[in-house]
Amino acid sequence: MHRSDDIANLFNRFGGSVESYREIEPSYDYIEDTPPPMLEVLAAEPLTASLAPQPADPLSVIPTAAVGSTPLSRLLLEIEQQRGAVSTVDPVGQGAPKLKAKVIVVVSAKGGVGKSTLVAALACAIKRSGGRTLALDLDPQNALCLHLGGSEEWPGIAQSERADEDWQALIRKGFSDSFCLAYGVVGEARRRSLEQQLANDRLWLSRHLAQLALDEQDTVVIDTPPGPSVYLDQALEIADVVLAVTLADAAAYTSLNQLDRLLAPYLQREKPGQYKVVINQLDTSRQFSLDLCEVLKKRTGNQLLGVIRQDHFISEALAYDRNPLAHTPSTRGCQDVLDLTGSLCELLMYGTQESFLS
Ligand SMILES: Nc1ncnc2c1ncn2[C@@H]1O[C@H](COP(=O)(O)OP(=O)(O)OP(=O)(O)O)[C@@H](O)[C@H]1O
Ligand SMILES: [Mg+2]
Repeated sequence: MHRSDDIANLFNRFGGSVESYREIEPSYDYIEDTPPPMLEVLAAEPLTASLAPQPADPLSVIPTAAVGSTPLSRLLLEIEQQRGAVSTVDPVGQGAPKLKAKVIVVVSAKGGVGKSTLVAALACAIKRSGGRTLALDLDPQNALCLHLGGSEEWPGIAQSERADEDWQALIRKGFSDSFCLAYGVVGEARRRSLEQQLANDRLWLSRHLAQLALDEQDTVVIDTPPGPSVYLDQALEIADVVLAVTLADAAAYTSLNQLDRLLAPYLQREKPGQYKVVINQLDTSRQFSLDLCEVLKKRTGNQLLGVIRQDHFISEALAYDRNPLAHTPSTRGCQDVLDLTGSLCELLMYGTQESFLS
């Protein structure tokens, strides 16, 4: 049947005539949503916005259309995981839980200056009125535990995927009645996801340490990776003393400027920790090192808390699984670490110290 017959039949049914029928060609104005060129999209969105963590949306993981066909247990698990991620984020304006223990954060702009060795030595030496000293490794190199008599088998804080994991069970005893919380051996994927978590949750470390029920006489000494990192940011949130380690060489001298720039925003906060410097591995047999040490003393002024001379007993301790202070007080480096320990304890107790350096 033709379309015209069809229309004639239709009109007949209503008693009308086909002559009054007029066909109209519809014409609509479509406005198509054409995507802008890719370059414009990139220009419109600041780079920082695309890197910034996006707020978690519980429904964003499973597409809405798929919700009905997804098993309920999977949906509940998804919501639970999302809730965990959201609840660890510090609500704006809420401060860090107050720690009773004192916290020393050991930092440097340059690698290999002796941070891990010093953190281990301080963990062995610091005993504030019989208090406990906990060495905490926030460096993915996971080397601190080795300096305290441990091994890669020791469990670490980075291995736990649970945001509220109790760290008590991870603590191991190190040399000289020290305690150690290792970073732990983890794969790259886990390290990256932990670092993302830390970037989103600035009070991660302070909450975990608050759970350990440390008291006033206890001390936490934290090892950090060189330069800027999420680990350094976490540690600065709770630092009473920020102890920068430098060598007496030209490269280290320049890197002190880098460290000043890195710490400048932190030091401008309302109540930053005390910023102190220690010169490590000073080679007293070389006039150049002694001269550079003098320059550094002038440069740092009363920020300088101590000088530790190069000591082969300290550097060999790791190789022989020995306490870095095993030769205390007979070797010069160990003696220097003890002097530094005295100054640090004074600083923690009174908020100031009478420097033994003139
Ligand atoms: N006072 C010292 N005397 C002699 N050697 C030292 C002294 N302090 C540290 N060292 C040696 O310096 C080297 C680097 O030390 P360490 O690994 O502790 O540095 P680090 O700053 O932790 O390095 P990284 O930035 O890679 O973590 C080691 O071989 C260590 O034994
Ligand atoms: Mg180290």
